[in-house]
Amino acid sequence: MTSDFLEYQAQTTPHPLAMEVSHAEGCYVYDTNNKAYLDFVAGVSACSLGHRHPKVVKAIKDQVDKYMHVMVYGEYIQQPAVELAKLLAKHLPKSLECTYLVNSGTEAIEGALKLARRATGRSQIIAAHHAYHGNTMGSMSVMGYEERKQAFRPLIPDVDFIAFNNKEHLNQITPKTAAVILETIQGGAGFIEPHDNYLTKVRTRCDEVGALLILDEIQPGIGRTGKLFGFEHYNCVPDILVTGKGLGGGMPIGAFTSSKSMMHTLQDFPKLGHITTFGGHPVIAAAALATVKEITESDLMAKALEKEQLFRKHLVHPLITEIRGRGLMLAAMTPSAETANQLILKAQNRGLILFWLLFEPKAIRLTPPLTITNAEIIEGCQVITSILDEIPF
Ligand SMILES: Cc1ncc(COP(=O)(O)O)c(C=O)c1O
Repeated sequence: MTSDFLEYQAQTTPHPLAMEVSHAEGCYVYDTNNKAYLDFVAGVSACSLGHRHPKVVKAIKDQVDKYMHVMVYGEYIQQPAVELAKLLAKHLPKSLECTYLVNSGTEAIEGALKLARRATGRSQIIAAHHAYHGNTMGSMSVMGYEERKQAFRPLIPDVDFIAFNNKEHLNQITPKTAAVILETIQGGAGFIEPHDNYLTKVRTRCDEVGALLILDEIQPGIGRTGKLFGFEHYNCVPDILVTGKGLGGGMPIGAFTSSKSMMHTLQDFPKLGHITTFGGHPVIAAAALATVKEITESDLMAKALEKEQLFRKHLVHPLITEIRGRGLMLAAMTPSAETANQLILKAQNRGLILFWLLFEPKAIRLTPPLTITNAEIIEGCQVITSILDEIPF
């Protein structure tokens, strides 16, 4: 199958990891030789409950037995989507009560950017250097990494950039600004947390000039940092919250959430301000509903913080210079891109799935399922340190 994969399926890089997957269960992925791989990546932060969590699988099967796609988003009343939006509202502040369900993280960002322009009547969007918000034209326009977007210009106009965590740059947010868009924790940049009340200060500046604050929680959201939403750590509530990845429990989803009055601006003058055929798909929404229920009704979030400490305890090595991030959104920093590459490739040979971050080549992504056990964490950390022992420094 490898040659057909390379021949017929579009590739994203010249060097895919090319594991031939047979099946996956819990925190393990199995290849077609039935070799088990312990998963420290969770489909890049998407499989929050691991692979084929029984409650997610049951919700999907039950829904498939009732109906699948019946109508474009927004016309018919479909229980899974309604219940999911209601459950999110239950766990969010009142100002974030209304959710638009879409198909991917990047589409949710597109929706959030459109909503911000529509609701404010302004056009300028301010994003952060080294930000990643997705790969469609709008999301790419707010990507803070010129090398990856240069070839696709011209992108959408009136986008400016500030440095994340730099308070001096906040005066660039002015009455012309429709919205500031930030990741609550910068992912691709290397799992950079906001420092010294940075997000609170961004919030204050936005309020001063009437700009909206969009927080992209596609990666940190839905329990990964030990709270349901990352912003709960930083004393800052956004005007528009964007989620995706882990929300779907392994199924493709995105969502943007705001106040009801703001979201209403998309429904008239003009009508159909954002439309999607498959957004809110009943099978996907059923999987997401089961996922959010499980995460909020179990001790998985509290345990994520204990598991973070276990990673920190067992990943002590001269070639690990720092561990960044929070909960189970962690990045182990190595001295060089070469060290990180060797570690990721050798780990795959030894049955441990690791992966890169987008813009920080020295980092190793550690974003396992929230359901990972302590024993599995210790086992994987031992694989990492034993590989590092073999790398000269
Ligand atoms: C912070 C952030 N925003 C947006 C996206 C885009 O989401 P998707 O790949 O589902 O379009 C990602 C995906 O990696 C992300 O990490």
